[in-house]
Amino acid sequence: MKPLNKNVVFIGAGNMAEALVRGLLASRLCEPDSITVTDISEERLRRLRESFKVGTSRNNRDAVSGADLVLLAVKPQVLPGVCAELNGCVPARALVVSIAAGIATPSLEQWLGPDARVVRVMPNMPALVREGASAFCLGRQAGPEDARLVKSIFKSVGFVVRLDESQMDAVTALSGSGPAYVFMLMEAMRAAARDMGVDETVAQSLVNATISGAVRLQETSGLPPEELRRRVTSPGGTTAAALSVLERGKVMDTWVAAILAARNRASELSGPVAGQTGA
Ligand SMILES: NC(=O)c1ccc[n+]([C@@H]2O[C@H](COP(=O)([O-])OP(=O)(O)OC[C@H]3O[C@@H](n4cnc5c(N)ncnc54)[C@H](OP(=O)(O)O)[C@@H]3O)[C@@H](O)[C@H]2O)c1
Repeated sequence: MKPLNKNVVFIGAGNMAEALVRGLLASRLCEPDSITVTDISEERLRRLRESFKVGTSRNNRDAVSGADLVLLAVKPQVLPGVCAELNGCVPARALVVSIAAGIATPSLEQWLGPDARVVRVMPNMPALVREGASAFCLGRQAGPEDARLVKSIFKSVGFVVRLDESQMDAVTALSGSGPAYVFMLMEAMRAAARDMGVDETVAQSLVNATISGAVRLQETSGLPPEELRRRVTSPGGTTAAALSVLERGKVMDTWVAAILAARNRASELSGPVAGQTGA
């Protein structure tokens, strides 16, 4: 990938900031001396300094003064205060990217000032291993060049797609919360393995290989999941026995209802009005 040649400042040096720093460096988009991270915890900053040789600061206002790109990676509930602190300090050339769950771009613009160029991104947890899924939308002042920049940054930690803000709550429910749905399936498979006397470590390896193999098969075949499911299910066989229990339990309807509930909760939390927060 082509180097960004930009000074990137992370506000908040937690899990997601660390994942992104790792991705930016590993993909050679940035050199360590073009990245600065801030945090209220000196311990966190020391960790990132030692691991990645990036610059660190405990002063958000000073840190953003030389930034081309500001990445807001604090928890949603502290974001209004952080934006108020940065209002008037972010250079006019700088793009501000927020990864805070449930904070819509009108809120960011209101808190940072109406001229702020903002982008909202919804990443997910597997970004920690550079296998994330991210969606982003542009604020009113952001343009195609900003979209290209955000795409290349989040590509360094996995898959990325641009959508309208109106879809961000759905994305939060699908890919943002999505890893939890897969972990729950893993938990169920492990519980069954325990009941059947299969060694826990062996069971986890089988479960992992099964889930990642099913994903790869869907990707390479291009077939819809319902067709793949049909092909693996012989009439009267073992898979059919399992699926009939799942159908009796209305598991498919329950999954859909669960995802819609997550979308509805995201909508409640991310209303267009500043001051609302979510996670
Ligand atoms: N983790 C995920 O899977 C995930 C997925 C999608 C989106 N996100 C979003 O990503 C954002 C970051 O999440 P995370 O999991 O990386 O959170 P995190 O690990 O808690 O990191 C946030 C860091 O910011 C620090 N901080 C708090 N106030 C600050 C301030 N005023 N200035 C500078 N730093 C400050 C926190 O310190 P203290 O801990 O001492 O307060 C913490 O070290 C959140 O908005 C979240 O909604 C996360």
